[in-house]
Amino acid sequence: AGIGLGAFAVVQLRDNPKAQQAVDEIYEAAKDFGAAVADGYREREEELNKPAKRPTTPKKWMKTAEIKRRWLEFFEKKNHTVVPSASLVSQDPTLMFTVAGMVPFIPYMTGLLPAPYERATSVQKCVRTLDIEEVGKTTRHGTFFQMNGNFSFGDYFKKEAISFAWELLTNSVEDGGYGFDKDKLWVTVYKDDEESIQYWLEQTDIPKERIQKRGMADNYWSTGQRGPAGPCSEIYFDRGPAYGIEGGPEADEDRYIEIWNLVFMQYERADGGTKDHFEILGELPKKNIDTGMGLERVAFLLQGVENIYEIDQVKPLIDLVSQLSNKEYGANEQDDVRMRVIADHIRSSLMLMSDGVTPSNEGRGYVLRRLLRRSVRALRLLGIDK
Ligand code: SER
Repeated sequence: AGIGLGAFAVVQLRDNPKAQQAVDEIYEAAKDFGAAVADGYREREEELNKPAKRPTTPKKWMKTAEIKRRWLEFFEKKNHTVVPSASLVSQDPTLMFTVAGMVPFIPYMTGLLPAPYERATSVQKCVRTLDIEEVGKTTRHGTFFQMNGNFSFGDYFKKEAISFAWELLTNSVEDGGYGFDKDKLWVTVYKDDEESIQYWLEQTDIPKERIQKRGMADNYWSTGQRGPAGPCSEIYFDRGPAYGIEGGPEADEDRYIEIWNLVFMQYERADGGTKDHFEILGELPKKNIDTGMGLERVAFLLQGVENIYEIDQVKPLIDLVSQLSNKEYGANEQDDVRMRVIADHIRSSLMLMSDGVTPSNEGRGYVLRRLLRRSVRALRLLGIDK
């Protein structure tokens, strides 16, 4: 408007010096006004460009069952035998539960039994209660979860394991993959494992800057007792600046969510020691691959929800608790945690019971009893007492 008025004044009062001065002032004012408008736009633009509070990738919603189906199909095409999930009650007398996808395959890795196949794939139901106190409070701790795995018993090793993982994660949804954005994936490797870094750089297009080295506590996997062990390489998804600080998985494991662990099972470890120091007894008879992808974690990222409790296979339980308690999910953080605890624990309890565990005072039965008690407590705190 100022510029228009100025132009009008120029035409009307061209030869009058005072008028000329007025025109100049109007021009100056118009310039300031324009700059202020531009500033306003910039601020608004900055506001709009702030990271969204929701996960940014991927755009398509994928059911948990579909993620599982794609997994098995992908590895079957790569000549893996599809092996059904084993019971949660582990066959291994030294393990109370099946705590990882590799548990049913331990005898093949140690050489106790000959492996009936060189390559296998499974979606294994698992129970882990070590982090029970974290359930409901974080995005990713579940006492029951499913682990998608691919395994090699003396067949392929690091190179193929790395390229299979990258292919399945980054292939487009149309091509049977999960369609993860390559630019949001990070990788960690065991600090001395230069060979894996080399394969990541050769077999995939991940840049060197997004590969981080970590020590034994993070990147050397075992069940925590005597048995197969080995350095591992983990793949993380970056949820974006709204979820934490920059700097990769080393800096923030809530922003960077671990989705897939590739273990290069090559050694036998001893009992005892700590997470970052245990004795290696020697080499296993063969080099094996044991990978584990957290099905619920990938589901929550692919479904654009905030945590593993809000995925299609778990959220109906939250909805039911919300309905029974007459409390809206999302209205109060403390109640939300209780709803998530109930959803997680009831799911685990049902899965344990369907594998024959009954509540008792010891062993597996005690774990089930604890899960049920914690659920009842959370239900009461939500005002449900019947
Ligand atoms: N055993 C490894 C894990 O549980 C990979 O499957 O993370």
